[in-house]
Amino acid sequence: MSVELRPITQENLRAVTKLEVRPEQSDFVAPNAVSIAETYVYPKAEPRAVYSGDELVGFVLFHPLDSDSRGHGIVRLMIDHRFQGQGLGRAALEEAVAFAVREHNAQRVRLSVVPANEKARGLYSSAGFVETGEIDHGEVVMVREI
Ligand SMILES: CC(C)(COP(=O)(O)OP(=O)(O)OC[C@H]1O[C@@H](n2cnc3c(N)ncnc32)[C@H](O)[C@@H]1OP(=O)(O)O)[C@@H](O)C(=O)NCCC(=O)NCCS
Repeated sequence: MSVELRPITQENLRAVTKLEVRPEQSDFVAPNAVSIAETYVYPKAEPRAVYSGDELVGFVLFHPLDSDSRGHGIVRLMIDHRFQGQGLGRAALEEAVAFAVREHNAQRVRLSVVPANEKARGLYSSAGFVETGEIDHGEVVMVREI
């Protein structure tokens, strides 16, 4: 399963904002329209659309870490409900880590997750992310050293 991260453009913007998680997952990630709006006021944020071949399947948002110049943050990650459970989330996560290393020389990648989000926690820990013990705005912080 391989995926590609592509910029948000005039062509794919509407489609990216229409991607949705399952109703019971709505507390786990902000709507993509909100994430893209945030990039207007956080100019260092980088949104990317996740493609499997030519199919738009998800969304990722990156931001540098304020307190760690050698680290980079994955702020949002989502796979549309129609495409979940096929390995695309894991592939998108690996591609996101590769992006942080390639584009930002990241030596560690940080993310945070709602404690009740068992699926994402399982995915992250099996992909080498370790809980740091820190809680950020009620979310469990996890870091992967490169
Ligand atoms: C989390 C999310 C990105 C995963 O995407 P996905 O395409 O469904 O994930 P995958 O098919 O690649 O499966 C990833 C792993 O999840 C894990 N997983 C699946 N269901 C699980 C469960 N109930 N409990 C624990 N782990 C689970 C498995 O380890 C699976 O990996 P494996 O089958 O390769 O061993 C997707 O479910 C999503 O968008 N959720 C809503 C938004 C969200 O929670 N984003 C994360 C915010 S931090």
